[in-house]
Amino acid sequence: GETNPQLWDRYRVAMVLSGAGDALGYRKQLWEYCESGPQIHTELQDLGGLSGVHAALPDWPVSDDTVLHLATAEALATGKEGEPLLQELARRYVEAMADMDGRKPGPTSILGTSQLCPGKPNGFRIPFNPKATGCGAAMRAMCIGLRYPHPSNLSKLIEVSIESGRMTHHHPTGYLGALASALFTAFAVRGLPLESWGSEMLRTLPAALQYIRACGVETEANVGAWSYFQEKWEWYLSERGLSDGQGPARFPAPYSPEERDAIYKSFSLDGWAGRSGHDAPMIAYDALLAAGSSWEELCSRAMFHGGDSDSTGVIAGFCWGLAHGFSGVPEGNHVALEYRDRMMSAANRLYELAWGERPS
Ligand SMILES: *[C@@H]1O[C@H](CO)[C@@H](O)[C@H](O)[C@H]1NC(C)=O
Ligand SMILES: [Mg+2]
Repeated sequence: GETNPQLWDRYRVAMVLSGAGDALGYRKQLWEYCESGPQIHTELQDLGGLSGVHAALPDWPVSDDTVLHLATAEALATGKEGEPLLQELARRYVEAMADMDGRKPGPTSILGTSQLCPGKPNGFRIPFNPKATGCGAAMRAMCIGLRYPHPSNLSKLIEVSIESGRMTHHHPTGYLGALASALFTAFAVRGLPLESWGSEMLRTLPAALQYIRACGVETEANVGAWSYFQEKWEWYLSERGLSDGQGPARFPAPYSPEERDAIYKSFSLDGWAGRSGHDAPMIAYDALLAAGSSWEELCSRAMFHGGDSDSTGVIAGFCWGLAHGFSGVPEGNHVALEYRDRMMSAANRLYELAWGERPS
């Protein structure tokens, strides 16, 4: 086929705006750990609003989310497949941990990468971990959908998202978040209506479970912990009136920053919104459903709330960028973003690998 300049461009925008979403939600640790959405909104006004934010070093670094997402993207960009790809991912996750000064990596990512032995047989596997429910797998998996966007690539997407996810988060609540992020990307590339993404993702879970069984790696522990992710998503979709994949989404009213803090908490496993594998993609999705083509509204909902706002921001920014490009995004939010060139290069290569053409 022919190069689709618009889609190629969207690959790059998605990578860049994921990094912007991370940097905005993080604000050099200040906002990732702020528990009040209304307070973040007030502080943003003091900065002159979103268009007053120049997301660049030294005040707006990218956090662990982007460093690890780039590790995923650059591993995929080698074009490797199968076990060599898994070894490459493991090697790059370990390497990425040397670039975490001031980026606040999560404890499960630190532990998981310390257990990896890249280069050794099965060195990309770590033991099942009943506590590895965090969003560390979900936040670095979006680009997997750029590499495997076609419906006929689904089994690859399932394999690579689950295996990359359980390199640190060997628990279904953790690694199914990676599957969700990768699938949402593929759905966005294919132009599936946003309202159907959640139910389509749930329809993929049986194939994911089948993969886990076929793989035979600590099957019993994985199957035993399987249901939470699915049940919480079924609950969420029914809250929004989206169980059957048909919109419009139904939102609480009012649903301002204050109410969102409380309602996002109700999505969560332990009261820390967006911290887990199921609810980081869920908050991002909730924001995407409401934001339409408004970057500002997206950021208000997904990057500026009283939870794990960099991890919800990295996923939301990515999916929004695929759908909308840079339109309406203040230039300062992304032009001088840390690692922007690496994001663009990885996106170019992933486009080429997925669509078999070299962008010129
Ligand atoms: C993805 O699907 C496309 C279209 O069917 C196919 O040409 C390509 O080889 C697939 N890629 C992988 C890695 O499975
Ligand atoms: Mg982070």
